[in-house]
Amino acid sequence: MAGVTGLSGRIALVTGAARGIGAAIAEALAREGVAVAAVDIDVDGLKEVVDRTGGAVVPFPVDVTDQQAFARVVDEVERDLGPLDIGVSAAGVLHPASVGATRAEDWARTFAVNSTGVFFVLREISRRMVQRGRGALVTVGSNAAGVPRTGMAAYAASKAAATMLTRCLGLELAGSGVRCNIVSPGSTDTAMQRALWTDGNGPERVIAGDPAQFRVGIPLRRIADPADVADAVVFLASDQARHITMQNLYVDGGATLCA
Ligand SMILES: NC(=O)c1ccc[n+]([C@@H]2O[C@H](COP(=O)([O-])OP(=O)(O)OC[C@H]3O[C@@H](n4cnc5c(N)ncnc54)[C@H](O)[C@@H]3O)[C@@H](O)[C@H]2O)c1
Repeated sequence: MAGVTGLSGRIALVTGAARGIGAAIAEALAREGVAVAAVDIDVDGLKEVVDRTGGAVVPFPVDVTDQQAFARVVDEVERDLGPLDIGVSAAGVLHPASVGATRAEDWARTFAVNSTGVFFVLREISRRMVQRGRGALVTVGSNAAGVPRTGMAAYAASKAAATMLTRCLGLELAGSGVRCNIVSPGSTDTAMQRALWTDGNGPERVIAGDPAQFRVGIPLRRIADPADVADAVVFLASDQARHITMQNLYVDGGATLCA
């Protein structure tokens, strides 16, 4: 992202970095001269990202729902790459279903990754940042956290939890020089989004909206690229955002009318 400063030579950890939005964030940070620890459960996907970035991204396979294993990975990252300046939580899962059809195990897994996993990441990294008096943390939430959607209750509730967790942490750490913000994407062209395009004309329908589902569509008339979300994360991690904390930046083409 042209024009931002304060990133070259920094160290970042990005979760969900094997594909989609997390991979775009890892690659965008690497282009700014950041050394990136890429965390994911998908070992093959991590390898592809590492191959594309030629060494600026280092793979650290781990499940963010395993707090001990994640803490060990953060130790390894700081030993191998250096003290973390930037932490980004992009790992997430979506099990679409109405509330009535949501299985308890899908509810639990959704919260384990999207809420508790974010808690483990924020807690583990922020502890270290506080001791050093600086750092930037960004949670990738969802615009579904702010507006009711059919067939997405568990996901939306889990993202709402992660969003408020991040804002509360931002308040707790504001005096310690650690900023905490959220980027809330709308429909973005990734595997997670494409899994929702089941009727053969997915993107057109998402853009046009659907009154039957109380969706107004996307005013900017396009599905986001993962790079659009990555640019917002890069900005929030940069010096240009040094006076921004506890904010929730929507990157959804206006789909939720900022409501
Ligand atoms: N694509 C969209 O339309 C959209 C919209 C709003 C929000 N989001 C959010 O953006 C983030 C990235 O989504 P995406 O579309 O790139 O999804 P994706 O499914 O393409 O990628 C998600 C990544 O997270 C990893 N992951 C899942 N569980 C994990 C775990 N327990 N530990 C470590 N890694 C794990 C997966 O292996 C995968 O690489 C998610 O938090 C998602 O909820 C996506």
